[in-house]
Amino acid sequence: MKLPRTQFLAAAFAMACLSTAMPSSAASADGIRVYDKVCRYCHEAGVGPVIKGRQLPAEYIKRVVRFGNRAMPAFRPTEIDEAALAEVARLIASSTANAPLGQ
Ligand code: HEC
Repeated sequence: MKLPRTQFLAAAFAMACLSTAMPSSAASADGIRVYDKVCRYCHEAGVGPVIKGRQLPAEYIKRVVRFGNRAMPAFRPTEIDEAALAEVARLIASSTANAPLGQ
């Protein structure tokens, strides 16, 4: 199908808008940074249980991080902000056990 030039431009513009509405790479970089700097320290060192690749629900992960649970420390919004927590929870929830987070 051959689109007239104006329709082609409109479609290209719409696609550009959609892609900027997607989560930015900066956001997932934040989530990965939180995991690497905070969570990995315990959760890949045998201090805490493995949390990657278990399909733990993101809501559950966020709650555990905010409120803590026995030996799992609680983190305040000043330590891990809402956006970064949502991102790291989403990445962990959809992670596979042996791949780096976000892949
Ligand atoms: C100081 C070590 C430490 C750090 C840092 C830490 N955790 Fe934990 N975490 C633990 C321990 C220990 C447990 C097990 C708690 C228990 O059940 O007694 C745990 C449990 C959890 C659980 C529950 C796992 C399950 O099997 O139900 C989740 C989810 C979790 N942590 C997520 C995180 C995330 C996300 C981060 C980073 C923001 C993080 N933790 C940082 C030590 C840590």
